[in-house]
Amino acid sequence: MIPMRDSFRTRLGFILAAAGSAVGLGNIWGFPTQVANHGGAAFLMVYLVVVVILAIPALYTELSIGHQAQANPVAALGKLAQRPHRVGAGLGKSVGLLNVGGAVLMLSFYHIIAGWMLAHALGSLALAMQWPEAHLALTTSSLWRDLVFVAVFLVGTGTIVVRGVSNGIEVWSRRLMPLLVVLLVVLIGYIAMQPGAGAGFARYLQPSFAGFSDPNLVVAAMGQAFFSLSIGLGGMMIYGSYLDRNANIGQLAVSVAALDTLIAFLAGLLIIPALYVAMGQGMQVSENGQLIGEAQLIFNVLPELFERMGAAGPWLGFFFFMLLSIAALTSTISLAEVPIAYLLESRQHSRRRATTLVIAVIAVFALALVIWFVPLFAWTVAYVTKFQLPLSGLFYFIVLGWLWSRSNKLKEKAREQWRFRLLFWHLRLVCPLLLLWVFVDVAFAG
Ligand code: PHE
Repeated sequence: MIPMRDSFRTRLGFILAAAGSAVGLGNIWGFPTQVANHGGAAFLMVYLVVVVILAIPALYTELSIGHQAQANPVAALGKLAQRPHRVGAGLGKSVGLLNVGGAVLMLSFYHIIAGWMLAHALGSLALAMQWPEAHLALTTSSLWRDLVFVAVFLVGTGTIVVRGVSNGIEVWSRRLMPLLVVLLVVLIGYIAMQPGAGAGFARYLQPSFAGFSDPNLVVAAMGQAFFSLSIGLGGMMIYGSYLDRNANIGQLAVSVAALDTLIAFLAGLLIIPALYVAMGQGMQVSENGQLIGEAQLIFNVLPELFERMGAAGPWLGFFFFMLLSIAALTSTISLAEVPIAYLLESRQHSRRRATTLVIAVIAVFALALVIWFVPLFAWTVAYVTKFQLPLSGLFYFIVLGWLWSRSNKLKEKAREQWRFRLLFWHLRLVCPLLLLWVFVDVAFAG
């Protein structure tokens, strides 16, 4: 007997899991940094437009491919890219395998950063408990610290995914996502009451014409939106494949994107005012109009700001780094499911064996990245984010728009109604061209 495929039990469970995948370090850290470096409110406005015209279509496309194929990315892309007279199937499978490999690479660097967040969370807790030696050890970068925390985080990811989709991923997304929102709102409330926060709100929410003059604004917003919605590594595709046949993918894509964008917006309401509070206290937060190093923002500027806030400070630090750790965890579980589902379905491993194997391989890669941090870390991040994400995203659009012919719902509807025809052409032509623009600009110019 073929065992039944695991699936999401409820619509809300899916929305929280997919939003959990989307809401990650990119929202809490990446988005506010981009806002600060690309014209404040101008970036926010362009970002919102880009989410609608490019990112939601891409999310819809990735989810639909998984949903139609009800299979892991290698099998799904192989199946849908198939056209009798073309090499589609082989190409589809190759891109699927690239996704599996890309997910493993991304997981190896993402776990390192997530480990830093967890170390800093515990470091803040140590400070609250008045244990300065532990605080220092946990917040100072060292080989052992990084290795220990990568391992801890990997165990966290593994413990959730080994339980499967409905009992692991869905259950934990339902627990962690509400917690994340509560932490974020509490932190925003606290920072908003500090002197200087008002100027930050103004910079974030009142567009100035000067803000729009940044030539990189649009490309930066498109790259950020793509990364933020977890497109291009098969994470959303595999989640889509666990939805039941009658799911309304269009509606779900819009809900997930709305939640992701809301959380990014809220993170901006926290970080931008916090930067202004820090400036008001005489701290240096930028140089030549650019934020001083992004890592410094998270690991130096904000912790220093928290330390100046008296007894509440260590708790603020703890909440803040827990927020980042939780955001990271709900993203790592979605990505880990990509290689696991492949081993499960295409290589007939048990879930336990597949999970162990995948976690072990990520551990080896992460070990290499920690040991040869320079230059491997930056290369890996650049490969995944600058090449893999936009190129796979482009391929997904080509599959939906050009290769997948049978039972392609959007294509069928496009024959009957002009609204859908417009949408279909948007997906098959406009979106790929926009992505190509991002790819060329990011890969060759910067
Ligand atoms: N969306 C995640 C974030 O914002 C990153 C991610 C990208 C996760 C691709 C999975 C797949 O941090």
